[in-house]
Amino acid sequence: MISPRSQIALFDFLDQSHRDLQRHLLLLRATVEACQTQTLDAAGRRQARTVLDFFNGEARQHHLDEEAHIFPVLLASRDEELAAAARRLVQDHGWLEENWLHIAPAISALSTGSQWFDHAELQHALEVFEALYLDHLLLEESLAYPEAQKRLQAYDQAGMGREMAQRRAQTRSATAPA
Ligand SMILES: [Fe+2]
Ligand SMILES: [Fe+2]
Repeated sequence: MISPRSQIALFDFLDQSHRDLQRHLLLLRATVEACQTQTLDAAGRRQARTVLDFFNGEARQHHLDEEAHIFPVLLASRDEELAAAARRLVQDHGWLEENWLHIAPAISALSTGSQWFDHAELQHALEVFEALYLDHLLLEESLAYPEAQKRLQAYDQAGMGREMAQRRAQTRSATAPA
C-alpha cells in the first residue's frame, strides 16, 4: 500500500521529472539552433553531451516509472476514457523513443565537435519531438497524474478500511468466550 506521504513524494518526483524534461527540451533546442550558425565551442559541446545523456538516461527512466506505477492504475480503472488515455500515453513513449533515435546521432556528433548530419532534417525531427513531448506532458499533467493520484488515494482508503475491519474481527475473536 502507498501511504499518503509517499504518494506526495511520488507525485512531487514526477512533477520534478517533467520540469527537468522541459528544461532539457529547451537545452536541446538551444543546441540545435546554435549549431546552425556556428561550430560549437567547448561549452556548447558540453551542453550537447548533457542533453544526450539526459534523453538517453533520465527521460527513458521517467517513461519506465510511469509505465510501472501510473499507467497500470488507469488501465485497471473501469473508465474507458482513462484506459484509452493510458494506452495513448504508452504509444507516445514508443513514438518519442523513435523520434529521439533520429535526433540522438546528430547530438552525439555535436558533443564531439562534428557536424556531418543534415541540418534541415535535424530541425524537422526536433520540431516533431518537441510537439509530441509537450502534448504528452500536457495530457499526463491534466488527466493521467490527477486521476492516478485519486485512484491511489481510494486504494489507500480501501486498504485502511480492510485493516480496521480485520483488527476488529481479531479483537472480537480474541475476547470471545471459549
Ligand atoms: Fe510519459
Ligand atoms: Fe511524464
